[in-house]
Amino acid sequence: MCGIVGYIGNRDCTDVLIDALSKLEYRGYDSAGIAVFEKGTIKVEKCKGKLENLTNLMKIEGRPSGNCGIGHTRWATHGEPSDINSHPHGNKRVSIVHNGIIENYRELKEFLSKEGYAFESETDTEVVAKLLDYYYNNDPIDTIIKVLADIEGAYSLGIIFRDFPEHIYAVRKDSPLIVGLGEDENFIASDVPAILKYTRNYYLLNQDEICDITRTDVKICNVRRQTVKKEVQTANWDIDAAEKNGYEHFMLKEIHEQPSAVKMTVSPRIKNGLPDLSETGLTPEKLSAYNHIFIVACGTAMHAGMVGKYVIEKLARVGVTVDIASEFRYRDPLICENDLLVVISQSGETADTKAALELGKERGADTLAVVNVVGSSIAREADMVLYTNAGPEISVASTKAYSVQIAAMYLFAFELALVKEKISEDECREYVQALSDVPDLIEKTLETKELCQMAASKLLSSNSLLYIGRGLDYALSMEGSLKLKEISYIHSESYAAGELKHGTISLIEDQMPVIAVVTQKELLDKTVNNIKEVKSRHAMVVLVMSESVKIEDGVADFIIPIPETKEVLMPCIAAVPLQLIAYYTSVLKGNDVDQPRNLAKSVTVE
Ligand code: M6R
Repeated sequence: MCGIVGYIGNRDCTDVLIDALSKLEYRGYDSAGIAVFEKGTIKVEKCKGKLENLTNLMKIEGRPSGNCGIGHTRWATHGEPSDINSHPHGNKRVSIVHNGIIENYRELKEFLSKEGYAFESETDTEVVAKLLDYYYNNDPIDTIIKVLADIEGAYSLGIIFRDFPEHIYAVRKDSPLIVGLGEDENFIASDVPAILKYTRNYYLLNQDEICDITRTDVKICNVRRQTVKKEVQTANWDIDAAEKNGYEHFMLKEIHEQPSAVKMTVSPRIKNGLPDLSETGLTPEKLSAYNHIFIVACGTAMHAGMVGKYVIEKLARVGVTVDIASEFRYRDPLICENDLLVVISQSGETADTKAALELGKERGADTLAVVNVVGSSIAREADMVLYTNAGPEISVASTKAYSVQIAAMYLFAFELALVKEKISEDECREYVQALSDVPDLIEKTLETKELCQMAASKLLSSNSLLYIGRGLDYALSMEGSLKLKEISYIHSESYAAGELKHGTISLIEDQMPVIAVVTQKELLDKTVNNIKEVKSRHAMVVLVMSESVKIEDGVADFIIPIPETKEVLMPCIAAVPLQLIAYYTSVLKGNDVDQPRNLAKSVTVE
């Protein structure tokens, strides 16, 4: 969602802000703006649309020239994307950028209106700007503390005051914000890629910590004005990780990074051929005590949880409930002590997943976060963390994050199955060995690229299609369908193949594409029967299947054979062609692959 940046130092601030904002484009946005100190005044430039529109606007209006300022990419929540709703908001005295939602903005707006303030925009953010002006007493920190006492909701804020041209102020609650630490220059940003070109060192801000940043110093305090000491964090990946490196899109690059990403997730957690998750705090005693496991997440991460459920139940024989985070938090779930709540999140900032985690903790469950972004809110709040080590994922459509999430689910399932004595040590070693071999098989599966491109070309003229599969193949179909929808804008649904006859098969008409996934041999005959049912109603069937599977001629119109491993591990392999089909469909349609319309990479509001 919204991206925040800020800079103070000796460089040209406008250049740095625009460059840093470009590194946050992946978060999704529909307008952009900056506010820069120029000769004692705050100069604001902002407009609807992409950063290019902003730079074009500055060619006409003149670009602010200075060494200190803040910038923003906005993903509209309150008020449509427009010039006026773009950030920064404020007046001659104060200017702010905001990520999050101010929940009580209506009552504050009413109060401020009575105090004589007139509002220009439809945003919740403008209320914070006006409130800062209202409380302003020449002491920025005191002013900010007063405002924090009035506002409710989630926020990270970058603030500048006209009277303090050598300072940026920042604060966060439930929305991410870091302070980048350079030499004679400092930064604020929503995420590490924005500052990587300048520094790898940064502070992570905790709830309601307020920073006063100058070019040589960063002072942090809490709302009682007590000084807070911080440990410097160092980003362990370099700038290349956040660049396209010759690939046409980040999505394609990230699809190709899956072999190494899975290796980075799995290898450090194997000791003597067996899974070892002790680094997370998951001891055998704890594992053996869990009665039930809840896996809660959103979107792709939830689909990884579905794979987790199948594998945990099959191997460890422990009951697993998978929930969509936005439902879990409102359905009064039967979660209690002796249960384990596993939350899965690439960003570690997803608001619903975070709320689910808080609910699980309140109910006394142990909590394990499977998270990619180090130091993210979810990682910090969970009792235990399993980092997925995939490096930055920039494309909005998750690909490598999914693969590493399911790899983490396998490690967890193997260890649990061993502790619960549902598999022997030898069997466990076999599973672990097979999982370690998965990166090579993914590499091989990437060779289906051309076939996937051809399959994609067959989908272009369709308005709607179905993904079908059984068992793990159904779990995977859900992810295939989401991937296609989000970047190709073609409607699709995933169905458990056996469920089609209970209603959905009525949708099948001449040449409607059906993408079937067949990797589970036990279910082969049954799925093939379901495929025949749609084929005989003239569907156009694309079949993604294990290469050794033999099926009669004419069952499918187009086949993508994939390498094989143990059946439980097949989602790691079969995910690849589904990702590539979605990718090429989007490319062929000329869509914005990495930043699909209406979507944000990290959904930090409910
Ligand atoms: O950062 P998270 O993993 O918590 O994000 C959850 C979903 O928003 C995310 O997986 C989304 O569905 C993907 N971008 C889809 O590709």
